[in-house]
Amino acid sequence: MSISKAYNSWAGSYDEMLNKTRDLEEKVARQTLDGYYKTIVELGCGTGKNTGWLLEKCDSLIALDFSEEMLAKAGEKTNSSKVGFRQQDLTKDWGLPEVSTNLISCSLVLEHIEDLDAIFAKSSKILKKDGFFYISELHPFKQYSGSKARFDTGKGIQELETYVHHITDYTEAAFTNGFKLVQLNEWFDEDDKKNIPRLVSFVFKKTS
Ligand SMILES: C[S@@+](CC[C@H](N)C(=O)[O-])C[C@H]1O[C@@H](n2cnc3c(N)ncnc32)[C@H](O)[C@@H]1O
Repeated sequence: MSISKAYNSWAGSYDEMLNKTRDLEEKVARQTLDGYYKTIVELGCGTGKNTGWLLEKCDSLIALDFSEEMLAKAGEKTNSSKVGFRQQDLTKDWGLPEVSTNLISCSLVLEHIEDLDAIFAKSSKILKKDGFFYISELHPFKQYSGSKARFDTGKGIQELETYVHHITDYTEAAFTNGFKLVQLNEWFDEDDKKNIPRLVSFVFKKTS
């Protein structure tokens, strides 16, 4: 099943089913992004877990996702005139103006995208100088041990297509595209560092 079809089919239960990764990421975003950003682009907004909260931190937000069912769920959660939801495959041209954005926020999406360099290149183009790129993903240690996005369809477990990204895959793609690293954090279940970290988060700043 293609990734977009899988998310279309997951959309109805995504918010309700037990999902430690989703719930931890919600906390991570709120602990990490403490500023006001004027304009935000959210990559892979899904059902809008972070969209409503990000709307409180900006004057306008564009939320991109290629799953119409995930977008529909996100749209049901807000009637704000500050947000524009757009169906968009992130591996294609985003159609957004250059140097227009103060923050890009991307949570739990890049495990589905093979080419990180292309994502950083497009992000660099649309960000203003000194703009930020927040990324939060399943930690590669979890990926090495076999974790990946999956859900119960009711008829069995559907695993989604994923790509392993090492920490240096993120940092190298960032440095190549004019970013510097300003924050790197690892996040653990129950805050217990005896566990394998569940998530890794980065904040990059566009330097030129
Ligand atoms: C695990 S969900 C995360 C949603 C939301 N960011 C969150 O944290 O709950 C991943 C989302 O990324 C979207 N996605 C994955 N690959 C994509 C691509 N190539 N283009 C656009 N959206 C994509 C999926 O449709 C899905 O909504």
